[in-house]
Parts: sequence; C-alpha cells; structure tokens
Amino acid sequence: MINTRSNTHRAIVVLLLTFALSSSGTPAQGSSASGEQVNARVKALLSRMSLQEKIGQLSQVGALDLKPDQRKELGDLLPEDSVSIEDHVRRGEAGSILWTTDPVFISTLQHVAMEESRMKIPLLFGFDVIHGFRTIFPVPLAMAASWDPDLVENAQAVAAQEASAVGINWTFGPMVDIARDARWGRIVEGAGEDPFLGAAMARAQVRGFQGQQLGTPGRVVGSVKHFAGYGGAEGGRDYDGAYIPEEHLRNVYLPPFKAAIDAGVGTVMSAYLDLNDVPASGNRFLLRDVLRRDLGFKGFVVSDAMAVRDLQTHGFARDPQDAALRGLTAGVNMDMASLTYLRNLESLVQSGKLSMTQIDDAVRPILEVKIRMGLFEHPYSDSAAAESILTDPEHRKLARVAAQRTMVLLRNENSLLPLKKTVASVAVIGPLADSEKEIQGSWGVEKAAQAVSVLEGVRAKLPHVRVESVRGADLQRKYPSLVDKVFGVKPTVPLAEDQLKNELDKAVEAARRADTVVLILGELSNMSGEAASRASLDLPGNQQQLLEAVVATGKPVVLVLLNGRPLNISWAAGHVPAILEAWYPGTEGGNAIADILFGDANPEGKLPVSWPRTTGQVPTYYAHNLTHQPEDDKNFTSRYLDVPTSPLYPFGYGLCYTQFAFSKLQLSQTTLAPGGSLQVSIDVENTGRSSGSEVVQLYIHQRAGSASRPVRELKGFQRTLLAPSGKKTVRFTVGKDELSFWSPEAKAWVEESEEYDVWVGGDSTASLHASFRVAAN
Ligand code: NOJ
Repeated sequence: MINTRSNTHRAIVVLLLTFALSSSGTPAQGSSASGEQVNARVKALLSRMSLQEKIGQLSQVGALDLKPDQRKELGDLLPEDSVSIEDHVRRGEAGSILWTTDPVFISTLQHVAMEESRMKIPLLFGFDVIHGFRTIFPVPLAMAASWDPDLVENAQAVAAQEASAVGINWTFGPMVDIARDARWGRIVEGAGEDPFLGAAMARAQVRGFQGQQLGTPGRVVGSVKHFAGYGGAEGGRDYDGAYIPEEHLRNVYLPPFKAAIDAGVGTVMSAYLDLNDVPASGNRFLLRDVLRRDLGFKGFVVSDAMAVRDLQTHGFARDPQDAALRGLTAGVNMDMASLTYLRNLESLVQSGKLSMTQIDDAVRPILEVKIRMGLFEHPYSDSAAAESILTDPEHRKLARVAAQRTMVLLRNENSLLPLKKTVASVAVIGPLADSEKEIQGSWGVEKAAQAVSVLEGVRAKLPHVRVESVRGADLQRKYPSLVDKVFGVKPTVPLAEDQLKNELDKAVEAARRADTVVLILGELSNMSGEAASRASLDLPGNQQQLLEAVVATGKPVVLVLLNGRPLNISWAAGHVPAILEAWYPGTEGGNAIADILFGDANPEGKLPVSWPRTTGQVPTYYAHNLTHQPEDDKNFTSRYLDVPTSPLYPFGYGLCYTQFAFSKLQLSQTTLAPGGSLQVSIDVENTGRSSGSEVVQLYIHQRAGSASRPVRELKGFQRTLLAPSGKKTVRFTVGKDELSFWSPEAKAWVEESEEYDVWVGGDSTASLHASFRVAAN
C-alpha cells in the first residue's frame, strides 16, 4: 500500500521549492490564492515547461481497461495507444486521466505525476459522476422534478464526497442541455425543457459538486455540458446536428450554462453536435464569442470524448493535424481521450501554424483550475477514510428522501393512492419489478451500492402481506447500446415467443389472485442516456399488452413508471386509476416507491417536461409562441386534426395526497419603470386532509414587442409546505432579470416597455391572472 501521508508531505515540500522563487513570495494555497498569486504561479510554471509538457496538460488520457474482444468490437472508437498510462504521466504527457475509479490506480498515477514527472503537476481524474457515485440518486430529470434546488445541491455534495473519497476530482456534470424532444435519450441527464428551471438546477448542482469555491475539501470540480445546443438534435437522434437560430440559442439553450458559469463552474465540455453546420468542438463562435466574451467563462474547456479527433469524422477537418489545429484555435483547451493534441500540436508549432502564445493561452486556465483546487498542496485522497465515506448510512437516507421527492403523481382517481397497509395481497408485476440494476438508471457505471428493487421495497413495507411477483413481459433494445459496449455490459437474452406468452398468462393469474396490483412498466436503464434515442415513445416490448391484460382483470391497478423520458401512456391515462412517475429513483428507489404507495411519504414532484400524448406531438413544450389562430379561439381547437395540441400532462404538473387552493393574486404596482421591480403575492392554502408541499409557480408573458414572445415562461417557483388548513402568502419579485430577453431585432438583451401578463398557480396552466406595464413614466 502506498503511504499517502508521507508522499503528500513530500509533494508539499517539492511544491514549496518549485514556487519559492515565484514573484509572489510564499506560494498561495489552493482556493485561498488571489488572482494575482494564481497568475504568478501559472507564469512560473509555464516559464519552466517544455512544449511537450504543455501539450501534455492539454491532453486527457483514457484509462478504460478494454479486453481484446471489446477492443475488436469497438474498432477505432477509442485510439490505439502503445504507451502505458503510467509512462504518459511520467513523461508529462497527461494533464488528466479519464474513466478510472480504482482508488489504488488513481493514487499510483498521482504519485507518478507528483514524484516522477519533471514538472510535478497534479493530475485531474475525470469521471461521469452524474447522479451519485456509490450511492445512486434519482436521475437528473427526476431531480429536476423535485423543483428543490437545496435537495439537488445536497445530493450532488454527497456524490462529490463519495467520488473524491477514491481520488476522483473532476466530474462531467451538470448536464444542462435543454431537451424538448423526448425521443432524445439524453433528456434523462438534464433538467428537461425549461431554461429557468434548468438554470436553477444547474446552479444547485455546481454548488453541490464544488462547494462554496474550488478547493473545498471533499468536493470536485464540475464541468457544465454539452456546450451547446446538443439537446436540439434533429429528430431526437443522438449526435445529430441542430439548426438553432441565435435568439433561440441565447433565450433557451444558454441560460442554464450561464447559471453554471455564474455559480463558478471550473470547466465546460464542448458538445459533439454540428451546430448550424459547425461542430461544437471546433466552433469559434460558441467557444470564444459566446462562452468567453459574452458569458465571461474563465475556466477551461474540455472536448467531449474523441470530439477533437472527430472534427475530421464530421467532414470538417481535413486530417488529424487539421482537427488539432481547429479544436485548439476554436477554444478547446483539453482534448478528451483522442490523443489528437498529443500527436499533432508539436508539429503545428514547429511548422509555425500555431504559436507558443496560443499554446500557453490554452494551458493557462488548466493550471489555474488545478491551483485553485489546491491540488498542488493536496493531490491525494485520504484512502483510510474512503470506505466509511462510501458506506455512510446518511447517504442512503438522503437518497431515499430524494427519490420520494422526485416522484410525480400523474393520476389518482378516487384517491386510490395511498394504498392501505392492511391490504390482504399485492401482485407486483412487470419486467422492471424486481430489478436492482434497472432502477438506478443510466450512468450507474461505478460499482454502485446494493439497490432496492420495487418488489423488495414493497415486501419490506408489508412484511405480513402476501406479495407475489411476475415479470409478465420482456424488454430489449433492438440495437445494442454503445455505452454498454464501452463499459463491457453484456446484452440480456430475449424471451422466446412461448416464454413471452407464458409470462403474460402468469401475470394475469397473479393479478386475479391479488387484491391490488402494482404494475411496474417503463424502459430498461440503457434505453435512455447516451446513444439511446427512440423513434417511438410507446411502452417498449410487449408492455402495452401486459398493461391492457392486467387492467382487464378488473383489479385496482397502480401503474408505476420507471423511465428516463415521457412515454406514450395515453391509454393508461384513460384506463388506469393511479399512475406514479418514479423515473429511475436510484439506490433507495424500491423503498421510496413503497413509501409513496403506502402513504409514508407524499408524492410532491412536478413535471420538468410537458408530457406528450403521442410521439407525433414532439417537440412538445409549453413556452411556444402564439400562432395566428391560438387554441383558445373558439373556432380553432387544435393545430392537429387528430389529437389536441395540448400535452397529456402539462409542464409543472403533479398531484399530491392533499389539495391546494390559490387566491388573492396581487401585484405591488401595475406600472413599472424600466429596470425597476415589483412584488407578486398569492395566498396558498392546503384544503385537503394531510400535510403536503406545493410548488407555487409564476409565469409571465410579454404581449407585444420587438419579437413574438412565448405564450408563457416560468420566472419563479417556491416549494411551500403546509399542514391541513394551513395558509401562506408566497411572494415573488419580478424585475429586469425576469423581463429581459435576447431580441433578434436589437441583437442584444432588452427589457421592453410593454404590457405583461402574470399567472401564478400549481402548474403551467395556472389560471389566476394579473397584468402590468413597463413604462418610462
Ligand atoms: C461522452 C458523453 O457525451 C459525455 O457526456 C461524457 O461526459 C463523456 N463521454 C465522458 O464519459
């Protein structure tokens, strides 16, 4: 075992010597360093670094341990590399290592960097800690459904703590891509369709990952991704390009990035897609004009994996050298895993196509981030503390609370839920009913903690009740998952026709025998996430058949969905009395679902997406513009002839076990000077019989101006807990921030002197309305 303590000590001594001659005198420690001190340290380092060492800092080396058959299957997806990772580090050819979670390997590599490389620059260890590390929290889309930034911050703080316990110091989150097309598999990784909610979630995640500032002990540096427009992929096809006009980019896609940057995120990941014909990872406009100039980002940009090399694959760069040149000049500081910088930048400098100043400019923010993180002083994790951090029971407790708070009750006819614990027998049916793996969702790549399946959760809740379980249906991807291949996950064997029929029959019999049926349907965890787009939002496999057969038994059925995107549940919405959206709730998912089903917790989540009725409705989002014949015109009810334009369930919607009434919507004033602000207040009352919390949501609309503005836009929300008969006045401030938008006419952010509508209520169809005017006198 490596002696971390004495090596840490040695590293500090070496570091003190390294910086003893820097102009600022005593080296500043990590995040406490002033801008000037950091600059001085960077300058001192750069002055001593060779070109190759600088290029090393610009290179992230992949550490996936691929078996020969995997490598063969993956072809040239990942670059061949004859040099060992240790040697890369030893020679100063790596600024960061990707995809290792092995604490011993991490420690070994960090020791090589700190003791055997000439410059002794610590490594960043990057990994996708997206919704937990050992303890898996609900997927990000679910976390957004909590509408609870504090919860989100706390969950990501736990994730950071667990990851940093094994030496990971960099996570590739938050993922803040706005997604309005549920076919896109990566909708699960973000906060859904709305820029305002997305910004709140982005901010909270950055605070959770990083703490108050870079270098907070037990935290990691974040990487907000994927910059930018990735969620706009045409047809919802992952990796496809998007054509996004500038006003849409700035008003819709960028606000969550801005929020993350303003919250101090240390790094940004450039996306894979072609944005308006220019790959995002070679897109100067995005990475320089927008990111650096307009959003004021000071950290460093890492490409998505292989994205620099793939500038050639896109048909953009001519060859690998051109790819390196265009990636670097566009503004990608670090090349993730493709080794394109490592292999090409030196000759580009030698041939004069790149200057040393350009290289230095690219390296500078990487060194700055490492200094601000305090990595030079504290490069190692405390291996002795790791196990107790990873198994801290408090983490599981928080995961259970998080899972409870993220579930959305979509339907509850005749208050079927909560179920009584005195029920005589329950059938827990469905292909996902007893899966500890699927309940965790995508990105549960690390050796996650033992998760609780729904069946286990229900059994634990009802120890004296007969609980039967049948799969009833089968779920398979038609085309295997790229991510599974990369991480060596083998596809499961599909059931044969007769087995499928047998399962279905068994499910119907189990339903007949039971008093109540809990039907768990949805998607496998690898059906959403990266490379997991679907052309159809229907329940996959033979689940619709299972659903209809079970409902036909006439037994009370509760449908619980485990999924990463809205699905076509229009039939269920008309035939199943209770529907609970549980998303992928993570390690404690089964317990949390049982808590909700049997009334030990309230379902309090609200949809972060508009829920389409059918696939043909996507993209679906509430903040669309008015048309020349709005739907509330009595002669024109839908923009489709076969389905209503409205979604099945609106954005912001979610039921609770109690009810709320809104009254007395008031504005502090009805005329506002530009730049001024007003107060909006509303009374909320719990009119039901149990306590519960409501998310009070504020929407605005600008009636006229230099551009058509969305019919409604979320501009405020507050979660309010109320006891039965409890009443509270909730207040919002509306001012310049809420009223400004990027005008395609002015090509700037403007607050216009116009009339505005305000609605406040429990979802995006809120009916209590007021209006005001912005006017210069
Ligand atoms: C590719 C994904 O697009 C990105 O989100 C992820 O962070 C990187 N791979 C690293 O795993």
